[in-house]
Parts: sequence; structure tokens; C-alpha cells
Amino acid sequence: MRCGFIGYGNMGGAVVRALLRDGSLHEGEIIVFNRTLSRLDGLKAEHPGVTIAASMPEAANGADALFICVHSPVVLEVMSVISGQMSAGTHLVTINGGVSIADLEALYDGPVSKVIPTITIEAGRGVTLISHGRKVTAAQARALEVLFSRSGRVMVLPEEKLGAATDLTSCGPGLMAAMMAQFALSGARAGGLDNEEAVAMVAETMLGTALMLADGRSSPEMLAERVATKGGITEQGLKVLKGELPGTFDRVFEATGRKRAAVRSAMTGATEPQLGP
Ligand SMILES: NC(=O)c1ccc[n+]([C@@H]2O[C@H](COP(=O)([O-])OP(=O)(O)OC[C@H]3O[C@@H](n4cnc5c(N)ncnc54)[C@H](OP(=O)(O)O)[C@@H]3O)[C@@H](O)[C@H]2O)c1
Repeated sequence: MRCGFIGYGNMGGAVVRALLRDGSLHEGEIIVFNRTLSRLDGLKAEHPGVTIAASMPEAANGADALFICVHSPVVLEVMSVISGQMSAGTHLVTINGGVSIADLEALYDGPVSKVIPTITIEAGRGVTLISHGRKVTAAQARALEVLFSRSGRVMVLPEEKLGAATDLTSCGPGLMAAMMAQFALSGARAGGLDNEEAVAMVAETMLGTALMLADGRSSPEMLAERVATKGGITEQGLKVLKGELPGTFDRVFEATGRKRAAVRSAMTGATEPQLGP
């Protein structure tokens, strides 16, 4: 499967490296374009069989799947450069929350999907969200889903449900890291611990908790109940969290939803229904 990538930033880079690491793609199947050539030095050194394209049309030309991995406001600019060069069968994939499948279908007559990856793909874990446009064949949908399935869990959703799901899976690592940092900081303060020590305790505890939940044998509620023995210490901490967290998290989703709508408005020049909460 020949895959073109336009944009090798934080996320484009993480995706390319994960797909190579997990054997989902071989070096010879990948062609990458990045505006700043020096950003590709590490990739060239580690994977000399990957082709570095000199232009965006070169990366697009003949690709079975073409991934656009630039910032949302740049996507339409990229499309204006490449749309005339793409063969109709190429499966166009955007990783941008701010660009809709319909935006791209208006500029390209072929199949379009959206993939929302997560930085935790670097650890081979996390959820990659995928939505398919109406022109994507069953075989193309399957090929895209299989491509990401070795690098974490793939969940296919209708595009209108991607907003909050993106917050959970793709913004999630950033939000969870911030929660972990605060948990550790408060613990260190309360117990006279070194902050680094506290962060290590929290990271390992979070990993263990996540593994126990991920195998499906325990729900968050069941796990909380097992730890919080009646009349015990954990129960007191849980009371505080139950009182304060719902409001905090509702405000998080309100804020991300507002920002998502603002990005859409800036791109389209009009206020559109937001793709999420
Ligand atoms: N970071 C995440 O966890 C994450 C997760 C899911 C989705 N995304 C989405 O992925 C997109 C990229 O995010 P990122 O974190 O990878 O950002 P990033 O590290 O800043 O990379 C941005 C990429 O866009 C390219 N670019 C910017 N302006 C350009 C222009 N005018 N012409 C051509 N190329 C241009 C950059 O090229 P240069 O190297 O030349 O600057 C770079 O390849 C965003 O829309 C983001 O929402 C990110």
C-alpha cells in the first residue's frame, strides 16, 4: 500500500514512525513531504528506504492513501496545490479536527476519511478515531482501519461524534498528564515528598489502573469500590472528587467545544454547527 504523507510535524511524524515500527508499512511504501526539509533528517537516517518528496504533488502522485498532516488552516491551501495531481482512486485522509470530510469532498472527487490519531501511538497504545466519507469503499475503509490497528485501538465513529471523542482520546493524553501532574503535586505537598518521586508513583499507578480497566474485567466504578473500603481513607478522597470533578470536566468540554467551533468559523468564514459538544 503506497502511502503519501504531507506534513511531518509532531503528529505526522508520530504516525509515520509508529506505522513503520509496528510493521504496518514498509519503508518502500512511504513517501513524505515536509515544508522544512531538516525536520526529516532523523527519518532519513533511521529509515533510508522511505522516499522524501521534493514537492507536495510528488507525495500525492500515485498514492493509494494520502495523509494530510498539517495544521487545519493550511489544509485547504495544500488541497489547492495537489488536487489536480491526484488520481481519483487515492484515499484522501485528513488528521485535522477543524477540517470536515465535506470540506475535502468539495475539493476532491475521490474517497475521503478522517483519522484522529493520538500521541500515545508512540507507546503503541491509545485510540485512533476514524470516520469515513460516503465515497470510501468497504475495502478502503478496512485497509485504513487495519493500518492503524497494530498501533493501538481503532474506533470508527460518524464524523458528528468525533468532537468529544477527540477530547477523550487525542486531547486526552495532554489533559491526563495535567491531571497527573496536579495529583502528584498535591500529594508531594501533603506528604513532604519529592515531586519527581510523586510523579513516578502517579504514573505507575495510572498505568496499573488503566491496564485493569482496559482488560474489561473491571469498570471504573467497580475498581473505586474495591479500593474504597467503607469508612476508610479512600472514601474521603472520593467524596471530594465526586463533589468537584463533574463541574470541572463539564467546563473542560465546554471550553474545547467552543474552541472547535471557533476553528471551524475561522476556516469557513461562517459560524457552522460544531463537530462536537
Ligand atoms: N499533536 C497531537 O496530539 C494531534 C493529535 C491529533 C491531531 N492533530 C492535528 O494534527 C495537525 C498537526 O499538528 P501537529 O501537532 O503535528 O503540529 P506541528 O508539529 O506544528 O506540525 C505542523 C505541520 O504542518 C506543516 N505546516 C505548517 N504550515 C504549513 C504551510 N503553510 N505549508 C506547508 N506545511 C505547513 C509543518 O511543516 P514545517 O515543519 O515546515 O513547519 C508541519 O509538518 C493539527 O491540525 C492537529 O490538530 C494533532
